[in-house]
Amino acid sequence: MSPVSVIYALLFYFAAAVLLFGLAVKIRQYARTPAPLKIPTTPAPVTQTGVVLRMAREVVLFASLFKSNKWIWLFGWIFHFALLLVLLRHLRYFTEPVWTWVVWIQPFGKYAAYAMLFGLAGLWARRILVERVRYITAPSDHLMLALLVAIGASGVAMKYVWHTDIVALKAFFLGLMYFDWQPLPADPMLLIHLGLVVALMIIFPFSKLLHAPGVFFSPTRNQVDNPREKRHLAPWAARLESGESR
Ligand code: HEM
Repeated sequence: MSPVSVIYALLFYFAAAVLLFGLAVKIRQYARTPAPLKIPTTPAPVTQTGVVLRMAREVVLFASLFKSNKWIWLFGWIFHFALLLVLLRHLRYFTEPVWTWVVWIQPFGKYAAYAMLFGLAGLWARRILVERVRYITAPSDHLMLALLVAIGASGVAMKYVWHTDIVALKAFFLGLMYFDWQPLPADPMLLIHLGLVVALMIIFPFSKLLHAPGVFFSPTRNQVDNPREKRHLAPWAARLESGESR
């Protein structure tokens, strides 16, 4: 094992720990944050099943973004859908044997990679060209976009220009998962791609990218419109009402 392989192995263990532990802490915090008011954005579903369907529409189609801004919706949706396809395609590096449906989606990867970069370019252009968006854009917004573009571009570069040994790469990752370390190919573009992925994994739980799990905890989207049928009472308000002091 070369020093580079050992360093990357340790980096991936560290990044996976930060990502999983960080996400668990944030999700726990979101789940425990009180929602004292009944504030579903109306018209809202009046049943729990309706809320599930509404949330599915949000997550799959970005429904409320569509209502608010067609350009952001277009670029945002293209980016996210393409990212999903790219990530699902990557499952072949972590599974043996590779699942059949993962084999089936491989041919779409080429288009997904370009679509992902196209979507990111549109979202980035908006932050630079639209004055009122530029005004509220922080350096971290640029950083997230730059990181995702760099990961995508290095991936595309590997796919078309500087190829790597995918079989050895897969052995490395399976080795990490089964605690049987194997060497990592030392191709510069692969090391760049993976180094950026490690950075993304570490930044994720501290960044705005938390909107991904966060959307499920949005009270305006996850509440049932039933205040007439059922009185909404936050736990702390119920305690106050019953005369119990804090
Ligand atoms: C440990 C995680 C990852 C590994 C081992 C990995 C590895 C690779 C490899 C070997 C390729 C070249 C494929 C080929 O030559 O056919 C590639 C391509 C690519 N990667 Fe990654 N990657 C990882 C994570 C990511 C992430 C998180 C993203 C996006 C945020 C990403 C985006 C891409 C893109 C857009 C391509 C080009 C299109 C494709 O082949 O799917 N990768 N990656």
